[in-house]
Amino acid sequence: MNQAGLHRYLSQDLISSTDKADKKNMFQQRFTANLTLIQDLFFSLYPESEYKKTFAKLMAKLPLLFDKRPEVLQNQDLEKIKDGNWYLSEQMVGMQLYVDHFNKDLKGLKDKLPYLHDLGINFLHLMPVTTRPAKENDGGYAVNGYTDIDPKFGTKKDLAALSKKMREEGMYLMLDFVVNHTSDEYPWAVKAQKGSKKYQQYYYTYPDRTLPDKFELSLPEVFPETSPGNFTYNKEMGKWVMTVFNNYQWDLNYTNPEVFLAMLENLVHLTNLGVDIVRFDALAFLWKKMGTISQNLPEAHRLISLFRMCLQVVAPGVILLAEAIVPPVEIMKYFGKGMYRGNECEVAYNATFMALLWNSIATRETVMMQKSMEALLDKPQACTWINYVRCHDDIGLGFDDRFIYEMGWTPQPHRRFLLDYYCQRLDWSPSKGQIFMHNPKTGDGRITGSAASLLGLEKALEDNDVEAIKIAVSKIIMLHGLILAYGGIPMIYGGDELGALNDYSYLKEAGKKQDSRWVNRPKHRWTKINKELSAKDGLVSRIYNQLRHLIALRKEFPCLADHNNIDLLELGNPHIFAFERRGIDSCGIVVLANFHETKQAVDSTFLKNLGYCKKGLLQELITGKKIKLKSGLLEVQPYELLWFKQF
Ligand code: GLC
Repeated sequence: MNQAGLHRYLSQDLISSTDKADKKNMFQQRFTANLTLIQDLFFSLYPESEYKKTFAKLMAKLPLLFDKRPEVLQNQDLEKIKDGNWYLSEQMVGMQLYVDHFNKDLKGLKDKLPYLHDLGINFLHLMPVTTRPAKENDGGYAVNGYTDIDPKFGTKKDLAALSKKMREEGMYLMLDFVVNHTSDEYPWAVKAQKGSKKYQQYYYTYPDRTLPDKFELSLPEVFPETSPGNFTYNKEMGKWVMTVFNNYQWDLNYTNPEVFLAMLENLVHLTNLGVDIVRFDALAFLWKKMGTISQNLPEAHRLISLFRMCLQVVAPGVILLAEAIVPPVEIMKYFGKGMYRGNECEVAYNATFMALLWNSIATRETVMMQKSMEALLDKPQACTWINYVRCHDDIGLGFDDRFIYEMGWTPQPHRRFLLDYYCQRLDWSPSKGQIFMHNPKTGDGRITGSAASLLGLEKALEDNDVEAIKIAVSKIIMLHGLILAYGGIPMIYGGDELGALNDYSYLKEAGKKQDSRWVNRPKHRWTKINKELSAKDGLVSRIYNQLRHLIALRKEFPCLADHNNIDLLELGNPHIFAFERRGIDSCGIVVLANFHETKQAVDSTFLKNLGYCKKGLLQELITGKKIKLKSGLLEVQPYELLWFKQF
């Protein structure tokens, strides 16, 4: 049982009470239950001999933070404790969006909630809406204030009104906590630039290049094209400062416990805006150590758990999402290990699955996906994935090299093939992606592009090629159907539900044109969309309605909730990806997807053995049709997705 489970157990007698004193008692219970872990984590990062007093400060801070949590959220926290692992439910279906690209601002978004309900979305990840520098700002990931709303999106009141409405309508909200860095305009950074020694210690600042040069020997570059190196010279301060991402994003120095204390406060204030899931941005980078790549370090994990254990005491209804786009074995560690298993982040991006979907589209082979996904099955019961086709960022090719070798391929040329396939370097590829952060030194690069453009729709429309359009649409549906059926929370990127193409308007915008990730952050142009959706047989309607149908189907089947109930099925056909979502009492679902452009066949015996075939008939859920097995073979059409229901 993880700590959340323990809290549920401890508070069962009090949980239905609305009495203030009972709420305080439950807070005390959680505090007591987590205290030893908090202490252990804190002193493992900040030695007791030096930081006893800082620890006392933390102890004093937690009750104050709890007292300041709005009552309506305290009540909601208790509801969530009662519900248990609410985020594992098959009812969860998410969408990620930029508020301004979706419908102008927070009020505009509130007006569009009916659209999201119609589609079946009940969970929103809003990209940063907080204040940021007017110049470049990495889409708001350069933070000027953790809870101040940038006027272009509206006001704090607008956000409160939106989150209230979402709560009333049973929707969940996710916002980012940019925990690794602030902008160079954040008050601490400004004070540091003005010479404050105290605030210079909130960041990694150095008088000369001696230590930065040593760090550089082992640090990789995140944005080698636009922000090479990991340090920036600040003239005003007369010092070098660590900037792992862009040169205007200053890395916070968590070896200083005061930074942890201040950021914990920022985190709690953020959750008080009505956030259900906090996306811990770039959390793999939280701890830096000379001679290492300074990613995924054990200290970073302890620090995240420390945030987790403290926040759980104050706001137990809020859970954490790990934004760790790192190799598969490393991702799993963000669920917590050993005594911290289930006590780090409840949710993590399934970046491996995402990258493998694209690998399978380009290679038409699913064996590597099958083998790699096996390694991700053993996660803690109370933890889950965000499954996504793509997000606002680039697509990195972070699979485990071992599996590339097992396929008989070699990692470097294989990755180059994928870049070529998606980034318009192969005549025969239908894809219209762009290369992102190409590093000529290593040949590495990542891919940008909207799902539809990467899957061939843009090119097919340009060529007016009816057959190619059909194939692209099938691919869009197939990939979304897979994330909707796999274990975890599906997260659709806003616009992909309409087959949105690449948006090249960013090329005309200062502050954006140097970052090709903006090509895959299309704007919802409602007049056009409304017209397209009213044309019932049109392309956009077809995609929208099919996804809407799949979402509704997902919600009908409790076996699609995540109870670690996935069996990957090896069917002997390298082009077919298949898995079963085991159900209780014969309500399982078998999912099959054909990644090849030709018809494929599989031996259907497994369906009989698993109880999916009665009198030679299979029940297919998406079409609602019964399929007769004429021979022992089941045929799967090009890019077809099948969901079979158990009898
Ligand atoms: C995360 C965000 C990305 C941003 C980076 C730096 O990876 O997803 O968009 O550039 O963090 O904050």
